[in-house]
Amino acid sequence: MTPLEHLQTLRARALTLAQALPGPEQAMSHHADLSPLLWHLGHMLYIEEHWLLERAGGQSLPAQRAYMFRADGMPRRLRSRFAPPLETLKPAIASWSARMPALLAQYAAHPLVHGEYLVHFLIQHHSQHIEIMQQILLAHALQGISSYHPERTPDPRSVSTHAISRPAGPATMGADLPCLYDNERPAHAIRLSAFRIGLRPVCNAEYLAFILDGGYRDRRWWTAESWRWQQSLGITAPLGWRQDADGRWYAVGPAGAHDLEDEAAVLGVSAYEAAAFARYAGSRLPTEQEWECAAREGRLEGIGGAWEWCANVFYPYAGFRAFPYRGYSMPWFDGIHRALRGYSPYTDPSLQRPTFRNFYTPEKRHVFAGVRLCADA
Ligand code: AVJ
Ligand code: FE
Repeated sequence: MTPLEHLQTLRARALTLAQALPGPEQAMSHHADLSPLLWHLGHMLYIEEHWLLERAGGQSLPAQRAYMFRADGMPRRLRSRFAPPLETLKPAIASWSARMPALLAQYAAHPLVHGEYLVHFLIQHHSQHIEIMQQILLAHALQGISSYHPERTPDPRSVSTHAISRPAGPATMGADLPCLYDNERPAHAIRLSAFRIGLRPVCNAEYLAFILDGGYRDRRWWTAESWRWQQSLGITAPLGWRQDADGRWYAVGPAGAHDLEDEAAVLGVSAYEAAAFARYAGSRLPTEQEWECAAREGRLEGIGGAWEWCANVFYPYAGFRAFPYRGYSMPWFDGIHRALRGYSPYTDPSLQRPTFRNFYTPEKRHVFAGVRLCADA
């Protein structure tokens, strides 16, 4: 598949995902942190036009488009009222994709277009929005009451001790490839102390044991902040976990209710819950350095079962330079956003690499994140 073909499949995928909900619900907001599905379609189209027509081509789009579809434009709570109808978006996306290859050729000499940078950027950008659209489908599915009866429910199991050891020594972080995001650059050497990191992410059976051991009621595993958070919201299980009338656990995902596989990575926990689980297990969360080092050495299994919360906040590497725009990473180096590594079952392959960094505030539960354990060796 050529990069342009990849981009085209992502546009098609976004259209399919938008139509996964009945018409009126495509324009509605289903979660305080999330925009309507249709906004994402408009945003993806705007981003393509903005970078190719405005940035590379020196043309300008109507100012109102930027307000409608820039992440820093119209406040999220207004986006449902002004979401353009699918009947408008669909032909606009089709005619843009038909026109786009000629524009790429026309502006091929521009530094952003050169070497296919822009197409790779758009592929990665759209992949992130496609994952977010699945967060929206999850939020929508969670609003429905389900009377699901799972065929099987996980057997609670004590925490696996399968871990790999890495002695103290040098390691490399980041890379210099131009198609990576700014926050992955530049490549730099670090030194790590010896550590042990879980071979696989924490699975549903292990997480169920934490719940049944009273993990959510045991003050010892929580910090002042995370205890206040879970107590005030009444959180007692991962997002989407439910029990049927017989007490059998199952989960609700973007496609609705489903059985929980014992071995599958737990999904739907905040960084607060991830850290509480780690403490209960006598461990801690890995730092991004530890995670990347182990991942680059090819020693981690189960990457891709869940985004994995890291112990550290999202920070710029020494020598960081914002590219292609300040807003991608810069505003989120705020000491609040936490780093996540790996990827989830909802992540496109274009984002699956050991240097990729995701970031969310620690209370977020709708971002398909789980836990991998780590400890000093
Ligand atoms: C990296 C997933 C937190 O959702 O705001 C999409 C990705 N940035 N368009 C986000 C992003 C600009 C970003 N996350
Ligand atoms: Fe975006």
